[in-house]
Amino acid sequence: MRITSVQQNNYKPQFKNNSRHILDNRGKLLYRTTTYFFREDFNWQKFIKMLGEKYKDAPKVNMICHACSSGEEPFSLVMGIENLLGNLSQKFFPIEARDIDAKNIEMAKKSGFEGVYGGQLLEIKRNTNHNVAKYFDVRRSSKYDSIVSFNLNPKNTLRDKVNFEQADIFKDVETMPKSNTVLFFRNVWPYLSVFERDKLAKKLYNNFDESSLVVVGSFDYASDIHWILTDNGFVETDVDYVYSKPLKS
Ligand SMILES: C[S@@+](CC[C@H](N)C(=O)[O-])C[C@H]1O[C@@H](n2cnc3c(N)ncnc32)[C@H](O)[C@@H]1O
Repeated sequence: MRITSVQQNNYKPQFKNNSRHILDNRGKLLYRTTTYFFREDFNWQKFIKMLGEKYKDAPKVNMICHACSSGEEPFSLVMGIENLLGNLSQKFFPIEARDIDAKNIEMAKKSGFEGVYGGQLLEIKRNTNHNVAKYFDVRRSSKYDSIVSFNLNPKNTLRDKVNFEQADIFKDVETMPKSNTVLFFRNVWPYLSVFERDKLAKKLYNNFDESSLVVVGSFDYASDIHWILTDNGFVETDVDYVYSKPLKS
């Protein structure tokens, strides 16, 4: 396996802080690790309000953020949930965050995020009611010449709410709780083979009941994931990219 270095590109609107390309021994792309805080393909606020309503009577919700890359996605979930659900947030934590790539998990557990593009800091501000300091020590970074960036060091208020572990979803899917599980598996389906996509959709449908949710991303639509999930019985909810089994009437 070959791994390219984290991109050192100068400012581009699409700048991302963890964007490695993982290749097999023959140079074929296995997957990219691209991720960032509050990825803009998703309506985080609408989704989190839906969580609050759907699980208002549930004592515990099993949040699983698979293919979490270097941790920006599960950390976004913690901040967004606390901001919008307040005292009702605790039942969503800890978030179980997993990724097949050991380097990603190492990065997620280490002391902080370096050279985070200024636009991402603004997204964090908007989604924390301007309370970034609750979650991060923030310093201006000199990592890039032509882009304003910051070093973000997560505080324990954030870290304590996420458990990171290296894992392949195909093994984990066997042990995911049937009920009240919210599975994030976003912006990764195109890296699976057609056979694997169908196999995973079937497993999820068989393992989950109507109280659980599957969340995908815009990149996944390149792999026809909407049709694969719906052909296997899932229906899309009122929130784009969020699927469940049809509710029993
Ligand atoms: C493009 S990133 C998506 C990160 C994040 N979910 C997001 O949307 O910002 C794709 C991630 O999928 C992970 N991945 C690929 N195959 C996987 C598998 N079988 N199980 C778990 N993670 C996997 C890769 O390591 C990579 O970090």
